Formats: sequence, structure tokens, C-alpha cells
Amino acid sequence: MAACVFLKKRIMQKSKQDFFATVAEKSDGAQLRGDYTDISNDYVVRQNWGSYTEEQHALWRRLYQRQAELLPGRACDEFISSLQALEAADGIPDFEKTSDSLEKATGWRIVAVPGLIPELAFFTHLANRRFPVTVWLREPEEFDYIVEPDVFHDYFGHVPLLFNPIFADHIQEYGKGGLKAMGLGGLDQLARLYWYTIEFGLVQSPDGLRAYGAGILSSGGELKHCLEPSASRHIFLDVERCMRTLYKIDSYQETYFVIRDFRQLFDDTAPDFTPLYERIRLQETLPANTLLDNEVELVKG
Ligand code: PHE
Ligand code: CO
Repeated sequence: MAACVFLKKRIMQKSKQDFFATVAEKSDGAQLRGDYTDISNDYVVRQNWGSYTEEQHALWRRLYQRQAELLPGRACDEFISSLQALEAADGIPDFEKTSDSLEKATGWRIVAVPGLIPELAFFTHLANRRFPVTVWLREPEEFDYIVEPDVFHDYFGHVPLLFNPIFADHIQEYGKGGLKAMGLGGLDQLARLYWYTIEFGLVQSPDGLRAYGAGILSSGGELKHCLEPSASRHIFLDVERCMRTLYKIDSYQETYFVIRDFRQLFDDTAPDFTPLYERIRLQETLPANTLLDNEVELVKG
């Protein structure tokens, strides 16, 4: 999502000014990439679909085609079928059109945002079934790798599964849980869960492991890497264990957490996290490549 913890930690701030000041500091003075001049109070902008150039639509088509070819046998079925129904292969989609069909399916809409947005605005959108999608597209030189989430990551990676009723409910619950975690000092833990599930999660299928995380599905390299026997670990999701685990933002993941299905993800994250946040704060964090004694690797490296 626009404000996903994609390749940068998200930033919590009370006011817009604080938000920009913190971004500048954290990114060594670098500017946020989007155009924030015309944002509304909830950081929404107009997508301005007519202003995309023919070159940008062509770049989108190339990105889409490369990913689409990699999906069979690697992406979960729910993702593949929803993506096909979106008919987004021909160019950067018009968010309003997508929103109209998405709203019919699960009650979600897409809102256009200039790029990363503060935690409060981000969680508030999710809690109200609005998914923030960045308006700008990467440059051709960034075909294989991009640091900040762009429209291709946000849309291609995240939007298809919003058509799945259970997953759609889960993202809304995550948004509500984020608002709650802000008052409980649980944001780091919740961000790790988000990272290892919504961004980089794998799910079991009768034919083997499949990707459902948006960070994997929108990445040519990681979609291939994540299922291959490799140095990366593949272990069953345990929510508490996951929330203790540090993650890599500038390389492939060293651990992938695997769920049985979306129902498990929904059910395992439904309990009140308040006592969990307190307990985890007293424990050591775990390095990204940890394997605990009782854990079984599901893919042999
Ligand atoms: N159940 C969590 C809580 O009580 C909220 C949550 C739901 C978090 C779904 C993540 C995903 O805080
Ligand atoms: Co994302």
C-alpha cells in the first residue's frame, strides 16, 4: 500500500509538518517522492488518470506482463483469479473504475495518495475499508527494484486480494488494530506481523506453497526466490514469534511465514493483542534468520 511498510519503515506522526520533518530526517534529508501539495486532511489526492503518459502505460504493461508470467505455480489461486477479473493488463488502471467493482464485491474502495502517509491516516483508511494506492509509477531504470512503493506495487500487489471476503475483512481488522496499537506501544510488533504476512506471506495449497504477500507478488526476483530451496527459511506462522522477528528491507526475506489459509490468518490475529504487546516488549527480538528448536523448515535449503 501506499503506506505499507514496503521497503521503508512507516512513520507515525501527529501533524503533517512533523510527518515531513521525520521523513526528511530518517531518509537523510531526502524528499518524499510524491507530490504532497494538494493533499486533503486524510492525505488523499486525485488520481488524475488522464495525466499518465503513453510511456508510463507502456511501462506498466511491461511490469504487468513480466509478473503475470511468473504467477502460475507461484501465486495463490485467489490472487490469480481476482487479478484476471481486474482487467488491468493494458495500462495503469483508473482507480474509480476498480473501486466500483471492488465495492460491489467486498465494500472496499481505493483512494489515491501521493506516496507514504502517516500511520494514523493509513490505519484510519483501512479501518474504513479504503485502501490507499500511490499514484506515481516508477521510472524505467527501476524496473527490477524500487525502494518506495509505487502504483504498481500498491495496485498489482495489494488490490486483487481485497476481492477475497476473508482477506478483505482481515485488512480492515488490521487497520483497527493499528489504531489501537498506537496507544499501546505496539506499532513495531504490528509492523513485523504486517511485513511477514500482508507483504511477504506464503500460504499452503494442495500443490505446494504459494505467495499471497504483496511485496512478493509485485517483485520479479522475490516471486521466484521465495519458493526455491534457498538459504531462506519457511516456517509456519506463529503470531507471537512473528511479531518478535526483525526483517530485511533491502534484500530478499531470510524467513517466510506460512499460513494454512486466510481463515487461519484471520482467526490467529483476532484475539486482543494488548497482553501480547506487553509480553513481547520484555523479550529479545529475533534476527531475521532465526530458527527456534521446535520449528520445522517447510522447504529444505
Ligand atoms: N486483534 C488485534 C488486536 O487486538 C488487532 C489485529 C487484527 C491486528 C488483525 C492485526 C490483524 O490488537
Ligand atoms: Co505494500
